[in-house]
Amino acid sequence: MNDLDWTPAPLIERLRQAQRIAVMTGAGISAESGIPTFRDDADGLWSKFRPEQLATPGAFSEDPATTWDWYRWRRQKVAAAHPNAGHAALAALQTEVTLDLITQNVDGLHLRAGSTDVVEFHGNLFEDRCDACGYSGTGAVAAEAGFVPHCPRCNAVLRPGVVLFGEMIPEDGLSAATAASESCDLFLSIGTSSQVYPAASFAEFAKARGATLVEVNPEYTPLTPLADYALTGPAAEVLPALLAALAPHR
Ligand code: OAD
Repeated sequence: MNDLDWTPAPLIERLRQAQRIAVMTGAGISAESGIPTFRDDADGLWSKFRPEQLATPGAFSEDPATTWDWYRWRRQKVAAAHPNAGHAALAALQTEVTLDLITQNVDGLHLRAGSTDVVEFHGNLFEDRCDACGYSGTGAVAAEAGFVPHCPRCNAVLRPGVVLFGEMIPEDGLSAATAASESCDLFLSIGTSSQVYPAASFAEFAKARGATLVEVNPEYTPLTPLADYALTGPAAEVLPALLAALAPHR
């Protein structure tokens, strides 16, 4: 598919007119930064594990050392990565229009690309948190295998500051995403399989309220049939193409 297919004139017009845009991103926007998506086969050391085996409250309480080793491996991978042209295009767009950015990603790459007020719906990979006393702080990227960090305040076992599989989404993320999808007139769903709830519900909610729904994903997803525009391509190419198509009108 070529750039023209990604920038149909009615969509560009719609983007120009939009008063408020909500964006939900998923693992696909970081794929071109070299971060494996969840439904890809993970490479290397951890390829034989499913995240569901390592990142549940049950797995963590039974064997925090293995879960911590896995999260530190992910921290190292993300620390060595860089935001890509898709992250940069969204950061640039946010300086031009009112744009609420919600991400399911815990990699922090939107913030590193310069986006502001990012709602990190599933938390942040680099945060250590204490469920016992509420402490939170930046955690170690590397440590010896099997190291389990303890809270500097109360000495309880620290946990990664991410939402584990099966846990509730924190209230502030839920209310920010609800407000964004209630108030937008255009919703962009980028690089997500739209299979994990409640994150996947916000695009459906915005569409039901009358917002224009735009999906950016090289693959068909459960959201595709609902989309007014399904832009079939990688985010790092589609988003800069959209930004460039908007440029002459600004
Ligand atoms: P997935 O790994 O489920 O899906 C990634 C999506 O990105 C797929 O639909 C791909 O087709 C698409 N994709 C791949 N490469 C792309 C590219 N270059 N540009 C655009 N799209 C591309 O990731 P998510 O939907 O983000 O939750 O997963 C949602 C949640 O599932 C994650 O946040 C995580 C996991 O359970 C928690 O950790 C709580």
